[in-house]
Amino acid sequence: MQKAQFGMIGLGTMGRNLVLNMADHGIAVCGYDRNTDQQKRLLEEGKDKPVQTAATMQAFVESLETPRRIMMLVPAGKIVDAVIDEIKPFLQAGDILIDGGNSHFTDTDARIARLQDTGIHFTGMGVSGGEDGARLGPSMMPGGNKDGYAELKNILEKIAAQTDEGPCVTFVGNGSAGHYTKMVHNGIEYAIMQLISEVYAILKNVGGCDNDQLHQVFTNWNDGALQSFLVEITAKVFLQPDDVDATKRLVDVILDRAAQKGTGMWTSESALELHIPTPAIDEAVAARDLSAYKKEREIIDGFTPTTVITAIDKEQLIQVLHDALYFGMAVSYIQGLHLLQTASDTYKYEINMAEVARIWKGGCIIRSVMLNDIRKAYVNNATLKNLLLNKTFYALLEEKRNALVTALKTGMDNKIGMPVLSSSLNYFDMFSTGRSGSNLIQAQRDFFGAHTYERIDKEGNFHTNWN
Ligand code: 6PG
Repeated sequence: MQKAQFGMIGLGTMGRNLVLNMADHGIAVCGYDRNTDQQKRLLEEGKDKPVQTAATMQAFVESLETPRRIMMLVPAGKIVDAVIDEIKPFLQAGDILIDGGNSHFTDTDARIARLQDTGIHFTGMGVSGGEDGARLGPSMMPGGNKDGYAELKNILEKIAAQTDEGPCVTFVGNGSAGHYTKMVHNGIEYAIMQLISEVYAILKNVGGCDNDQLHQVFTNWNDGALQSFLVEITAKVFLQPDDVDATKRLVDVILDRAAQKGTGMWTSESALELHIPTPAIDEAVAARDLSAYKKEREIIDGFTPTTVITAIDKEQLIQVLHDALYFGMAVSYIQGLHLLQTASDTYKYEINMAEVARIWKGGCIIRSVMLNDIRKAYVNNATLKNLLLNKTFYALLEEKRNALVTALKTGMDNKIGMPVLSSSLNYFDMFSTGRSGSNLIQAQRDFFGAHTYERIDKEGNFHTNWN
C-alpha cells in the first residue's frame, strides 16, 4: 500500500476533522485511535478520500513515509506522555512528532528535552478554530525547531485558513513558543468573551434590548471596526431557539455559570511570574470563577431591588458600548501581546510579533479586523514593547476613551459588574500616566521596612529615617 504522508493520533472531533481537511487537499493520511469506533467513523466520513487507519501503533508508524510526520490530538497532560512512550520505540531520528493539543508550555519544554537525544523533532503546536476551523482551515502556531517545521510547512500551509496575507500558519518560534502563543491567544479569548458578555448585560438590562435587537446590534457591529469571529457568533447566538421550548431563545435558558479548562488561568499565572500586567485577562478568569457562585449571587440579589437609571438614550447607549467594546478588545490584545513579546525575550523564543498578528487574522477564535492595525504596528517596529507606544494605535484608543467612561458610568449606576471594561480603562490610564502615585508606595515601603527608594533627580537607592 502507498505510504501515507501524515499520521494522526487521536481521532476525536479535532483530529478527525483535521484528517479530513488534509485529505481534501490530496494529502494521504493514516489515523490511529485506541477507540476503534473513532477509526471506523473516520473511514466512513473519509470514504473516497486518501484516508486509512491502522490496527496497532507499530502498524500506524510503518504506514507512514519518512521522515514521519505525526500529530497527536489527545487530551493535554499525562496522556500525551503515555502516547510518546508508546510511539517512541518505533520512531527514528528526523521524524517529527507534533502535539496539537492545549498543553502547558512547560510540559512541552520538558518533552523536547526528553526527546533531545533521539533526534526526533518535537513540535508543540497551538491549533485554534474549533471543529469548523479544523475541518475548513484553522490557525496553527507551531514551535519546536526550524528543521522540523521545514518538513511540515507544505502540508500545514495547505490546510490552514487562508487570508489576503497568506496561510494562517508560520514557524512561531523556538521550543515551546507554539504552545505559549496559543496560551496567550486563549487568554485574549477569555478577555474578549467577558467583554462581550459585559456589553450584552448593559444592552439587555439598561438598554432594554430583546434578542432580536441584540442580534441586530451585533450584526451591525460585525460590519465595521468590531468585525471579528466572536462578535459574529454572538449575533447568531441571539437567534437560536430553545430546542426544548421553541417559544424561547436558547440564550435565555442557559445557566449563567461559565466553565473553563484552564488556559486563561495559565496565561495570568505566567504574566504574574514575568511581571507583565494583564488585568483584562486576570479579570476575565476571575469573572468566570465568580460566575460559579450562582446560589450566593441569587440570595444577595434579593437584598435590594434595582431600578434602571440612564442618562442617555438607547441609540447613544449602543454607540458608546460599541466604542467601549472596541477599546476593551484592543486592550486585551495589547496586554496579551506585551506578555508574548516578553516571554519571547525571556525564553529565547525569537517570536516575530507581526507574523503572530498575521496568523491570527484567520481561522482562530480571536480573529478580527483589528489585527490589521496590530500587525502594521509590529511591521513598523518589530521590537515594540507595548502597542500603546505606537502613536496611531494609541490615538485609536484615546479617541474612544470618553465613550468607555460613559458606558462605565451607565453600567455602574445600574450595578452591572464590568470587570474587564473597567480594568481596561484603568490599565490605559495608568499606562499613559507619566507621573503616577506609586512614589507613595515606595515612601511607605521605606518607612516601615527600610526597603529604600529611588529619586527623580539623582541615581541610586536612598533610605530615610521617617518619623
Ligand atoms: C480555540 C479555543 C480552544 C479552547 C476552547 C475552550 O482556539 O480553538 O481556544 O482551544 O480549548 O475555547 O476553552 P475554555 O474551556 O477554557 O473556555
